[in-house]
Amino acid sequence: MSDKPLEQDQAGDLRRIVEKKRQVLRQKGRPKTLAILSGKGGVGKSNVAIALACAFADKNKQVVLLDADLGMANLDILCGVSAKYNLSHLVEGSRTLHEILLPIEKNILLLPGGVGLREMADLDDDALSRIFETLSGLEQLSDLLILDAGAGIHKGVRAFAQAADTTVLVTTPEPTSIRDAYGVIKSLGGAHSSQGGDLMLIVNMANNQREAYDVAERIRMASMQFLGSAPIFLGYILKDNNIERAVRMRRIFYRLTPSSAAAACVRKITDEIIRLWEGRPVKPEPKGLKAFFARLTRGLFREK
Ligand SMILES: Nc1ncnc2c1ncn2[C@@H]1O[C@H](COP(=O)(O)OP(=O)(O)OP(=O)(O)O)[C@@H](O)[C@H]1O
Ligand SMILES: [Mg+2]
Repeated sequence: MSDKPLEQDQAGDLRRIVEKKRQVLRQKGRPKTLAILSGKGGVGKSNVAIALACAFADKNKQVVLLDADLGMANLDILCGVSAKYNLSHLVEGSRTLHEILLPIEKNILLLPGGVGLREMADLDDDALSRIFETLSGLEQLSDLLILDAGAGIHKGVRAFAQAADTTVLVTTPEPTSIRDAYGVIKSLGGAHSSQGGDLMLIVNMANNQREAYDVAERIRMASMQFLGSAPIFLGYILKDNNIERAVRMRRIFYRLTPSSAAAACVRKITDEIIRLWEGRPVKPEPKGLKAFFARLTRGLFREK
């Protein structure tokens, strides 16, 4: 039997609980990586990525937003800033990591990726591993890396899904968007990737809850029937004109109209992500940023 006073035992228990909670987002000091992708373009990924970053930032998490859209990187514009440098300046060695990172607000840094990700493919292994080393410096600055992975059913989608700890697929209720979302799940070989975490689903621009649940159910049922696994439905974001208005003003809708219906939906989704992570704090373990970028570059450009 323990000869420690009861209070001491209880204090120890409390400390352990607090510590376990703290580790949910920062396991062994490694930030989690969350990739946002879609089949069809224009479904709201970039706005969702930024709004999630804000919602996590409000929970005191340090977030790095990586603009990994290889085609049309535009997170800087949506955040109301203008990126002078991007990953390609880091790759060519003309700028340091700190020089390309753009502060968006207290807990959010933007890392413009763009063409830099593509250029990483042409580096030799030594240069590449130096870049990975540099990028892993982000681990000191972040609890969470959210990346906007762009749209499309191509091998990039697989690379992002395999590199990230959590993958979130965004669709709208439009039939073409639903079909392309299913196409992405199929191209990933189902909703459980072999190395990555489970695939999660957000229905954006829903007219109401019922419609969102119907869309999610259709995608989940088709996936289950034909692919043997279904994405986890994270939640929905209502169609909300505040988003379009904020985009036009180059403001973050989540900040411009925090009490909007869409912002409330984003908060619910954030809580759901945290709940799911807390339910399984150990598996899958965050892979760390060095491994993340290595997987991503290999998956995107190097494996034929
Ligand atoms: N919940 C919503 N309600 C109303 N409009 C929305 C909503 N979400 C996004 N939008 C509109 O859709 C447009 C496209 O959003 P966004 O740029 O985030 O999509 P995307 O998926 O990142 O596009 P792309 O594939 O081109 O990168 C926005 O400009 C905004 O006007
Ligand atoms: Mg986008």
